[in-house]
Amino acid sequence: MQRFRRLRTNEAMRKMVRETRLCKSELIYPIFISENISKPTIIESMPGIFQYPIKDLYELIKQVSDSGISGVLIFGIPKEKDEQASSAYDDNGITQQAIRYIKSEFPHLLVIADVCLCEYTSHGHCGVVKDGIILNDPTLPLLCKMAVSMAKAGADIIAPSDMMDGRVAAIRSSLDENGFLYTPIMSYSAKFASVYYTPFRDAAQSAPAFGDRKTYQMDPANAKEALREIADDIEEGADIVMVKPALPYLDIIHAASKRYDLPIAAYNVSGEYSMVKAASQLGWIDEKRVVMENLTSIKRAGANIIITYHALDAAKWIDKEN
Ligand code: PBG
Ligand code: ZN
Repeated sequence: MQRFRRLRTNEAMRKMVRETRLCKSELIYPIFISENISKPTIIESMPGIFQYPIKDLYELIKQVSDSGISGVLIFGIPKEKDEQASSAYDDNGITQQAIRYIKSEFPHLLVIADVCLCEYTSHGHCGVVKDGIILNDPTLPLLCKMAVSMAKAGADIIAPSDMMDGRVAAIRSSLDENGFLYTPIMSYSAKFASVYYTPFRDAAQSAPAFGDRKTYQMDPANAKEALREIADDIEEGADIVMVKPALPYLDIIHAASKRYDLPIAAYNVSGEYSMVKAASQLGWIDEKRVVMENLTSIKRAGANIIITYHALDAAKWIDKEN
């Protein structure tokens, strides 16, 4: 008989043989910056997460910087939205201002700019709309302008989340032409049309005004197609590829990490976060244990980078455990 229990007899023993350890430097914290508020404003469907005006960002970013996690992923909510998402590529837009501010105060913290039009369009879609259709190719130049504007503001990494075909190649050549040869692209490669984004759309005020995102985001049923999306983004020049959401798609994370030799990011999205928060607030589950188990599982599946709203809490818990 094989006595597996020999190596489980006490915590020191279990710790010695543990195969997966979370590390603070692989965590990224998403933040929401709004031009429409004058004080931090709670997001009802995401307990513990706020929208911030730029003037109140300092405390939060200081906390992030002190926590030991690698950086932040920025989402801006502009005052003006229009059909062409003009504020997305306005060098003085809310997101650009926020990036400049964070980089000036905390130059060592990585700032990742989400590149997508949905927070900036009046209709809330991720691309240009004509006659109720979300157009692919006319969207690309706008994404390119947005990416360059974010890089100019000081973004360390450009993260396109729009799911238009061909956007990684287009953004790469625009960045290069504008002198940003060393700004990496973290592509949301396998981004599924998921109901788990629901709380985020309150946070980013980016719900589509009509229809849904199923013509550009992936069908949750498709794994092979996810690998083709990833292969294509790598070919187009992505430096890091992302799978999103994380927990319902561990099979995709695992397959991607087996097949491709570049860093894999996983986005533990708003709905995954809010379900954990709701159950813990009701006393139905232990928050710390469930978060640590979830994040460990995402890493075990093959993620090298984890974007999560639990990042600040997890950083504290990781400190205590290691
Ligand atoms: C924008 C974007 C979304 C998320 C990240 N970037 C929402 C969407 O596609 O509707 C979701 C993040 C989350 O749920 O935490 N394209
Ligand atoms: Zn979008």
